[in-house]
Amino acid sequence: MDTIVILDFGGQYCHLISRRIRDLGVFAEVLPSDTPSSKLSSPHIRGIILSGGARSVYEKNAPKFDAKILELGIPILGICYGHQLIAKLLGGKVVSGASGEYGQMLLSSQKTSGVLARFKPKEMVWMNHRDVVVKVPSGFTAIASTEHSTIAAYMDPRRCIYGVQFHPEVSHTPHGDTIYASFIFDICKTKKTWSSKQLLKNIIAEAKTTLGGERAIIGLSGGIDSSVAAMLVGRAIGPALTAIYVDTGLMRYKETEEVKRAFAKEKLKLKVVYAADRFFKALKGVTDPETKRKIIGKVFIDVFYEAAKTAKANYLIQGTIYSDRIESGLTKHSSTIKSHHNVGGLPKNLKLKLYEPLRELYKDEVRKLGGELRLSPIIQTRQVFPGPGLAIRIIGEVTPENVEIVRQAGKIIEDELRPTKHWKDIWMSFPVLLPIKSVGVQGDERSYKRPIVLRIVESRDAMTANFAKIPYDILERISTRITNEVKEINRVVYDITHKPPATMEWE
Ligand code: XMP
Repeated sequence: MDTIVILDFGGQYCHLISRRIRDLGVFAEVLPSDTPSSKLSSPHIRGIILSGGARSVYEKNAPKFDAKILELGIPILGICYGHQLIAKLLGGKVVSGASGEYGQMLLSSQKTSGVLARFKPKEMVWMNHRDVVVKVPSGFTAIASTEHSTIAAYMDPRRCIYGVQFHPEVSHTPHGDTIYASFIFDICKTKKTWSSKQLLKNIIAEAKTTLGGERAIIGLSGGIDSSVAAMLVGRAIGPALTAIYVDTGLMRYKETEEVKRAFAKEKLKLKVVYAADRFFKALKGVTDPETKRKIIGKVFIDVFYEAAKTAKANYLIQGTIYSDRIESGLTKHSSTIKSHHNVGGLPKNLKLKLYEPLRELYKDEVRKLGGELRLSPIIQTRQVFPGPGLAIRIIGEVTPENVEIVRQAGKIIEDELRPTKHWKDIWMSFPVLLPIKSVGVQGDERSYKRPIVLRIVESRDAMTANFAKIPYDILERISTRITNEVKEINRVVYDITHKPPATMEWE
């Protein structure tokens, strides 16, 4: 199968490149930056992309690559750090910029050819760098610039080497996909041989081989990831899989009933464990976000151990996807943003073998698999929900009373948004309860109650997100209903922060 290889120099968005390419119908895989050229000279490898990275090319121990790769005759595309590295290696010049260039910038292309062939002369692109290329190597032509980068893209079509300083893979570069399309189709001449059906087959085959004849349990939250993982592994090993749904007491409104109903018609052994008391007891008095996440992870694991013993299973399957891993600092160069309970929360000496069939995928790829598997529409259209549940939407102590407040407010938000045309574009919409009070006036009387933050975000892959520009009349209805119907709340505020710099959840 035609393959594009991405060499990982540690950039947060490196893996996203592979995902964008798979979306275009071509298989792509990420390999370490120091992969030797001998491993890459194979006829099915049609192109090599050098990813971005957080280091400076002049730093001691900055990641490098095997320079012989440039002589393989395989087309090369450098992104950000990759763009700088190629320039430096071949005799160009890279310097530290006077100021960094972060965020959306206007790119002016002097030549819309090569990887810019599908770009207009002026396009918005997303930048995230300090060093800049100021001189291209001989044989290269500079083809685009921004206010701060005089050489924001270059090419040497003779040797099929291209570089862009910006990140085409993030959604803040609106036409970024066209850079990859030009590279893989026009320059690398790949054929479209990759699809969700193919992916489904590959994962089922992998699950069969990995699990052999062993029994397994899977933590099923009813979210799209764990549901897809459960169905896939169920197809691979049938009744040797038991799905465990843990009602943590931190679930959304009527969530447990909904999940039970959705899976009633599937061929899946589902066991529901009611464990709210255990979670609340363990969380008593805890306010620190990371401690909350770790405690929840620990109780989950205890429940899973007990379930595994009953099911005589020695494998734990999790629906962990790629963005969970990268933000939990589990890839080579990434830093820990949050301990996701289902990854960072696992004990070092896990007593079960772990298998994560979706570990390389992004949310929308998983959704497509859900479609292929004909998962119940209730599950397919549910919003993403974090493993630690409503606990991380309560700033401060998690008590049953606080959970009930966010549960009620969350139901109102969903009731008001679901029927609107905005629902399909929303990644998540939820309330966050703050541990402060403010003065209000309700029914001619002074009130002194807590505020709810309304968070509504749009995202493609969870790595970046924008706050949703929901019309004021809808926001007004949500605010009025929350302050009328949730008696502990007298104020609703709207969170207007993108990710980055914020994250979607508040903890
Ligand atoms: P953040 O807040 O990090 O969230 O921008 C990105 C996406 O990940 C979800 N999330 C989690 N999912 N376990 C999960 O399964 C977790 O611990 C967890 N924490 C955050 C979050 O809801 C959002 O969709």
